[in-house]
Amino acid sequence: MYASFKSIGAYIPEQIRTNQWFVDRMDTSNEWITKRTGISERRIASDEENTSDLGVNAAKIAIERSDILVEDIDLVICATISPDYYCMPSTACLIANKLGINNVMALDISAACTGFVYAVQTAKAFIESGMKKNVLIVGAEKLSSIVDYTDRTTCMLFGDGAGAAIISTTEDKDEAILDIQCSADGGLKDLLLTPGVASDEAMFMQMKGNETFKIAVRTLTNDVKDIMAKNKLQNEDIDLFIPHQANYRIIKAVGDALKFEDSQKVVTVAKYGNTSSASIPMAMNDVYESGRLQSGDMMLLDAFGGGLTWGSALIPFAGK
Ligand code: ACO
Repeated sequence: MYASFKSIGAYIPEQIRTNQWFVDRMDTSNEWITKRTGISERRIASDEENTSDLGVNAAKIAIERSDILVEDIDLVICATISPDYYCMPSTACLIANKLGINNVMALDISAACTGFVYAVQTAKAFIESGMKKNVLIVGAEKLSSIVDYTDRTTCMLFGDGAGAAIISTTEDKDEAILDIQCSADGGLKDLLLTPGVASDEAMFMQMKGNETFKIAVRTLTNDVKDIMAKNKLQNEDIDLFIPHQANYRIIKAVGDALKFEDSQKVVTVAKYGNTSSASIPMAMNDVYESGRLQSGDMMLLDAFGGGLTWGSALIPFAGK
């Protein structure tokens, strides 16, 4: 039995926060933000919307676009670093409950911006072991709740949003998720962390941006070279390169080092900013809705984030 990637959906919060919002509040400029990050605007969830609500909205679309029913889902995974509640209950439990999915295993994954790739890997393992048949995976973030809006070096990077997918069993090897590799190095935890606990000011995210930038470019590039070589694939075998959307300069540096054509690269960072675990599924949803992602297309995912964590995946799109 193989695992196949059956559908994608996303929820993009309504409120747009442009660079001008930051210019009005701190010592920065539209030119600096655009030039250094490629970001023009990001979305911000409303006060009434929690991470689980964003995730539920994305999940409903992913379920509707798949050929399964809500009651067929036997595992719910949510990747997030901005859960509704710290410690418990997990955001996956809340999402399952709000969708009316009862009596199934539900768990969160904390792998920062690599969260969605970790979630696909986990779903694949459960399916290939025969333990589960239809897994709902969600990457959902209300990062505006953990961003320090007095820190001009990080706050303009992040936005809110959610993406979701259905991973199901298949006997068709052509539809099967080809390969995923996920890694971590806790020795580099200090580059990107929330040092405190809830209700403490130190719960806000802190990042050593420049150091993280350099490690991100090197790690993302090497990880892709590794997974491509392992699977004996060439660039022309990849239809869409969908990297984590942290910074346009990182995407460009990695894309150039790997010699991908612009037509293969998916870039949404300008309009959504960095939405951590939601960034890859939101980008995937964008190309799906615009018709660029077609059934059978080979997607290459590449992510990097706090932990540090990183991962790559080779996934044929098995949706309609
Ligand atoms: N406006 C104006 N100037 C600024 C701003 C700002 N908002 N922020 C920083 N600067 C200044 C700095 O003070 C510095 O000034 P100095 O040269 O006088 O000291 C100068 O700009 C350059 O600062 P750097 O930090 O070196 O800028 P850099 O080019 O590295 O860009 C950025 C910063 C955008 C944060 C970049 O390093 C980055 O994107 N890092 C990686 C992010 C990432 O991939 N994170 C992992 C995933 S996120 C997750 O897991 C949740």
